[in-house]
Amino acid sequence: MDIKIQLEKLLSETLLALATADEAALRELEVRVLGRKGEMNRILSALPSLKPDERSAAGTAANTVKTKIEAEIKERRAKLSAELENELASSEWIDVTEPGVSSAAGHLHPTTNAIDEIVALFERIGFRRARYAEADWDHYAFESLNMPKDHPARDEWETFFLDAPQHPTLGKLVLTPHTSNAQVHEMERREPPIRMVSIGKCYRRQSDISHIPMFHQFEGLVIDKGIALTHLRGVLDYFAKNFFGPDRSFRLRPFHFQFTEPSFELDISCGRCKGTGKVDDATCRLCKSGWLELGGAGMVHPNVLRAGGIDPTVYSGFAFGWGVERTWMMRAGMQIDDIRVIYGNDLKFLKQF
Ligand code: FA5
Repeated sequence: MDIKIQLEKLLSETLLALATADEAALRELEVRVLGRKGEMNRILSALPSLKPDERSAAGTAANTVKTKIEAEIKERRAKLSAELENELASSEWIDVTEPGVSSAAGHLHPTTNAIDEIVALFERIGFRRARYAEADWDHYAFESLNMPKDHPARDEWETFFLDAPQHPTLGKLVLTPHTSNAQVHEMERREPPIRMVSIGKCYRRQSDISHIPMFHQFEGLVIDKGIALTHLRGVLDYFAKNFFGPDRSFRLRPFHFQFTEPSFELDISCGRCKGTGKVDDATCRLCKSGWLELGGAGMVHPNVLRAGGIDPTVYSGFAFGWGVERTWMMRAGMQIDDIRVIYGNDLKFLKQF
């Protein structure tokens, strides 16, 4: 083949390969085309056999092609190194000597803090914290609490029954609708004197501005010889003054629970209107009457004592059960108008506590 044609072919093939060559391909191309044993020298090795005039023309053409190839390789190399620099500049750069950014520290949920505070208050007067299962048998949630199967009082608890095999004697499995299930468990586990505070999650089919389907209750239970209503009043008074403040008072309102007799609902004087029911001559928006309902209480029903294996002719006791979230909300200064916000996971709300 004519030398000039061979040179042109070499040039066009080299330019084509250069267009996409990376640094490694460039080095390989340099050796293959311009190296001592490369394509260019192979072509030029035919020069001595040419006639003198053809030789000089072919020599000039070879020089031109060689210079062109060298220039193109140089340009390609410059382009590759500029691209590499740009890539480094735009990629994320970590300065390991830079001072660290400390991660944002959260804090415990207000319900957890309220639980800790409530437990600490009761422990101070000799109560022991107990925990019982959140999925429990019907027997502990209702039956042993003096609520026979068809008793209408059960409807008030709007229970979630679990789709699980039934126990032959203890009945269905339920998500505990109140912490009162702890009462008979505690009586079965311990001999009197009993002073228990049990805090747990409760579940009911309820959701509106004052109800949530999952909430917490704390249940108090005291059983000993000679326990009377005055002891209940004393304990409630201690709790109200220490948790809500010395200027708050409470009242017991006659009520009905199957598992206590007599039974009461406990109201705390409203922190907003100071128990008067009025703010600036208008009805208090928070309580409307000067009082806020906290929960239930009463003297343990003899049938419940019997269900727990305790002789009601020897022992007596009182019990109370309140919602943790409502108790926390009713503390001075907290005028939360929708209880559901507590579990809405809104950091703007939670960070305030
Ligand atoms: C009971 O659950 C009784 N076991 C309380 C009791 C215990 C009485 C021991 C006597 C002796 P009640 O259904 O009223 O009672 O609930 C008590 C408190 O739990 C309420 O006053 C309220 O503070 C809270 N509570 C009840 N349902 C909800 C709910 N869906 N969301 C938030 N708090 C609730």
